[in-house]
Amino acid sequence: MSSTESIPTMARSVAESQSEMNEIVLPNDANVLGNLLGGRLMHFIDLVGAMAAYRHSRTHVVTAAMDHIDFIQPVHVGDLLTLKSSVNRAFSTSMEVGVKVWVENTQTQVMLHVASAYLVFVAVDQNGRRVRVPELKPVTAHEERRWHDALLRREHRESEHARRKAARKVSAAADQAGS
Ligand SMILES: CC(C)(COP(=O)(O)OP(=O)(O)OC[C@H]1O[C@@H](n2cnc3c(N)ncnc32)[C@H](O)[C@@H]1OP(=O)(O)O)[C@@H](O)C(=O)NCCC(=O)NCCS
Repeated sequence: MSSTESIPTMARSVAESQSEMNEIVLPNDANVLGNLLGGRLMHFIDLVGAMAAYRHSRTHVVTAAMDHIDFIQPVHVGDLLTLKSSVNRAFSTSMEVGVKVWVENTQTQVMLHVASAYLVFVAVDQNGRRVRVPELKPVTAHEERRWHDALLRREHRESEHARRKAARKVSAAADQAGS
């Protein structure tokens, strides 16, 4: 996929694109035990993550990667979910977005942390060509830390990506030799 050379506009703050989504868990979202399906939660995470990336880039975005997710708490039919997303760092055409999910016990109003994930979105134009995104300007100490950590995660993703690519080559060569 080729990238366009459009000039990104001024740097944007984290607050400008922070997003929130609320969902009530319905029977259709659950397994036979009435627990929210992991895949459904990943779908919600993808959506709220895309909202922040969309607001930051002001163009279409596609999901390039979703990092490891731990499902910390079960979520049940009838529970209320709150999902919050913010852009941690903008690179050239990609953005790392962090998503955190809580479930609210409607009786006690206690909020429990359910899951967290990091996603990478790539900005594209109407024709699917990659486009540059505006820089992200961290303001608070928290945002600054996330901005730094996002670069470390990007480096880790890149080395993992290269490792998997090399492993696929070895496996393809072994398949060919065996056939
Ligand atoms: C993501 C996609 C646009 C990348 O396109 P590409 O031509 O392979 O681009 P490149 O390898 O040159 O990488 C472009 C950018 O994406 C990032 N990227 C690509 N693959 C990535 C991955 N697996 N994880 C994290 N970032 C990734 C690169 O770091 C780069 O970022 P930068 O411009 O900020 O430096 C392309 O692979 C694609 O369209 N994938 C399908 C997306 C989709 O349909 N998602 C929905 C799920 S089905």
